[in-house]
Amino acid sequence: MPTTPSVLVAGGAGYIGSHTAKFLRNAGYTPVVLDNLCTGNRFALRYGPFHEGNISDAALVRRIVDQHQPVGAILFAGHIDVGESARAPRKYFHNNVGEAVAFLDALLDSGVNRVVFSSSCAVYGIQTVMPLNEDASKDPVSTYAETKLFLEKVLRAYDSAYGLKYAALRYFNASGADHDGEVGENHTPESHLIPLAIYAAMGGSPLKIFGDDYPTPDGTAVRDYIHVNDLADGHLRALRHLIDGGPSVALNLGTGSGYSVHQVIEAVERISGKKVPGHMGPRREGDAPELVCDPRRVRETLGWVPQHSSLEEIVTTAWRWHSEFQKVAAGK
Ligand SMILES: NC(=O)c1ccc[n+]([C@@H]2O[C@H](COP(=O)([O-])OP(=O)(O)OC[C@H]3O[C@@H](n4cnc5c(N)ncnc54)[C@H](O)[C@@H]3O)[C@@H](O)[C@H]2O)c1
Repeated sequence: MPTTPSVLVAGGAGYIGSHTAKFLRNAGYTPVVLDNLCTGNRFALRYGPFHEGNISDAALVRRIVDQHQPVGAILFAGHIDVGESARAPRKYFHNNVGEAVAFLDALLDSGVNRVVFSSSCAVYGIQTVMPLNEDASKDPVSTYAETKLFLEKVLRAYDSAYGLKYAALRYFNASGADHDGEVGENHTPESHLIPLAIYAAMGGSPLKIFGDDYPTPDGTAVRDYIHVNDLADGHLRALRHLIDGGPSVALNLGTGSGYSVHQVIEAVERISGKKVPGHMGPRREGDAPELVCDPRRVRETLGWVPQHSSLEEIVTTAWRWHSEFQKVAAGK
């Protein structure tokens, strides 16, 4: 019986990793998840084999590679909270850099030389010219963003010295949920706008809005929201690009359209039919007024065009997840 090619998905119990695991499974791959469940969800482990452990555990990585012979790896595993990274930089450098470098070493030592890495548009920091293309200066303003940029540098050096081929994908704002409601966003604590607005609409804490005096059309910050399934598609395309012998790349993944905090709130209110209670606070340090992607390079390189990233579809899938499925999936 022919076996399907495997892909090692480090951090596959998390939000973006679990959607990507499902996407890979549906595309004929076996996603093999390695996750220590520090923030991941057991309920999201449903699309392929699971190995519980740390990405820096070289012996475990070798065993997984020996057993599953993956065609490449995707590195989602990491800590993601920008605010926490200011309070606990040690935790972020340790995990997002130290453990991640150990993972790359273990991959190379096991003979895996293709990796897709979760970078972030945060590497650009605060920029004035929009949309942002990949050549914009890299000026991280948080420890979190520093760790992402540092790992991109490690990848570049490992490519030139050891032939490790990589795709560093700089996501804009991951959002939305699986259309079947099997997985969705379940961060604790949550720091992302759409789930927080939905929780507020469902009777949770009122939404804190950080500033309405930005130089944007309605004064609130503008972001580029990208559906998590479009991100998943981007990962598979990036992996195939490397499998086909393409060079290492660093690419933005975003739509090219920005929405303000007020526009997101309006969408949540319209789609849920409920009010989003909230209060206005001052700007938050390190927040850019606007972050919008120029998606031309990823379109040209990978043929990637978002299919599910209208604000309507993002908020509709997120609302269904949080209002109907999340509690059941998470056993809350
Ligand atoms: N969510 C976004 O909007 C966004 C935007 C840009 C970049 N990213 C990046 O995408 C990646 C995934 O984000 P997410 O929102 O799915 O986060 P998440 O917290 O839901 O998932 C991260 C997963 O990695 C696992 N993990 C963390 N450290 C590990 C370690 N040392 N060993 C093994 N497993 C470990 C966690 O248990 C979790 O399952 C992160 O690297 C994040 O920085 C996310």
